[in-house]
Amino acid sequence: MAKIWAGRTAGEMNAAADAFDSSINTDKRMFSQDITGSVAHARMLAHCGIITAEECEKIVSGLESILADIENGSLVIDPSAEDIHSFVECELTLRIGEAGKKLHTARSRNDQVALDLRLYLRDECGPLKECLVELVRTLAQKAHDSADLVMPGYTHLQRAQPVSYAHYLLAYAQMFLRDLSRLQDALRRMDKCPLGACALAGTGFAIDRHYTARLLGFSAPTANSLDSVADRDHCVELAAAFSLIAMHLSRFCEEIVLWAGAEFAFVTVGEGFTTGSSIMPQKKNPDIDELIRGKTGRVYGDLTALLTLLKGLPLAYNKDMQEDKDAIFDALDTVKLCLGVFIPMLKGLEPQPQNMLAAAQKGFINATDLADHLAKKGVPFRTAYKLCGEIVSYCVKTGRVLETLPLEEYKRFSDVFDEDLYADIDLKNCLAKRESYGGPGPQSVKRQLAELEKELEAYI
Ligand code: ARG
Repeated sequence: MAKIWAGRTAGEMNAAADAFDSSINTDKRMFSQDITGSVAHARMLAHCGIITAEECEKIVSGLESILADIENGSLVIDPSAEDIHSFVECELTLRIGEAGKKLHTARSRNDQVALDLRLYLRDECGPLKECLVELVRTLAQKAHDSADLVMPGYTHLQRAQPVSYAHYLLAYAQMFLRDLSRLQDALRRMDKCPLGACALAGTGFAIDRHYTARLLGFSAPTANSLDSVADRDHCVELAAAFSLIAMHLSRFCEEIVLWAGAEFAFVTVGEGFTTGSSIMPQKKNPDIDELIRGKTGRVYGDLTALLTLLKGLPLAYNKDMQEDKDAIFDALDTVKLCLGVFIPMLKGLEPQPQNMLAAAQKGFINATDLADHLAKKGVPFRTAYKLCGEIVSYCVKTGRVLETLPLEEYKRFSDVFDEDLYADIDLKNCLAKRESYGGPGPQSVKRQLAELEKELEAYI
């Protein structure tokens, strides 16, 4: 395809260099944003009297017909084109003649690509936010249904204190809520229009950048022309937000992989989300969760690629920046793909309350409550802590748990112990009384649910 920039040279490139230089396979996905940007640019040029109203109408209807034809498949994007910007411009000139050649007045591909990328990411983040909202909703629904399922909470992957399955799920809901707010935040900073910065130094034409920004739904134009075309902070911020989403999914998947195994048996993964083995007939493997965990590395890789890409670049535009799209698109695609399979997997995830309770009963997770019992009776907590440690050690040696150790034996450790200790270390009670703000007690979980629902409203 002939180069739009032929002139200074004949525009004939070495075939390998030409293919290497082309970005069409990556940036063709921005065709509709490229056309939207061009329509706004043409309208601004006409508004400012730089092109005529008639030329503007020709350009706009030509661009609209290109958009329609790409969408209905009658126009195929030429894989040998240099990029989506030159493809659309050449096609426009083919369709409408001379007026098409005026479109690029007071514009460069440098501000054009900066705009297209912002528009594309803005468009894509909408459905992504909806996915996250659905995920948080799913977690809230599941938490609502399992508020009284006792399970052990862990530190160091050692049983620690009682929590509920609902409380556990709501911990993840908080993470995804933060992810939503991070996306929102990155989008807010990205909400400035770079079009009109031109190649790097603005233009002598009397353009109206505020007008273009308004037409394209941005809050304002970007403030500095050099920064406008050199800035890819929004890609980095979004890749960081995607990395955090991936990291949260990965931690969750790690737990599900552990919990689905016979050693825990806390959950069963729905059959549609497991695979078998080619040799071991008994296997039901949580491949989907493992794969999501695995894909997290790619997303981090994309973030690292972006940061590394930018770190040594002098202002303003450099061709290196063409690599930004492969990285940010891959991070976006990967996170969307993962969420798309994680959410239905989560919906079918079934807790195994008996196994959770059994694990909670065997791990001395009420030892802190035993110490608290003594502390309430006036024994200094540090003294109570030491005494309870000795009791746990005694139980481990004699094969008992705190709930079944007779009172006489307790009294050998301290005569402060009384019959009422058993109520204080009953697992259901231990959970029920943990009503400190943010704790796992049922009232606290109810409050978490209500507050979550309220916070979620900001994203709907
Ligand atoms: N394909 C290029 C990119 O993605 C578009 C901008 C080209 N600008 C230029 N001066 N060659 O960055």
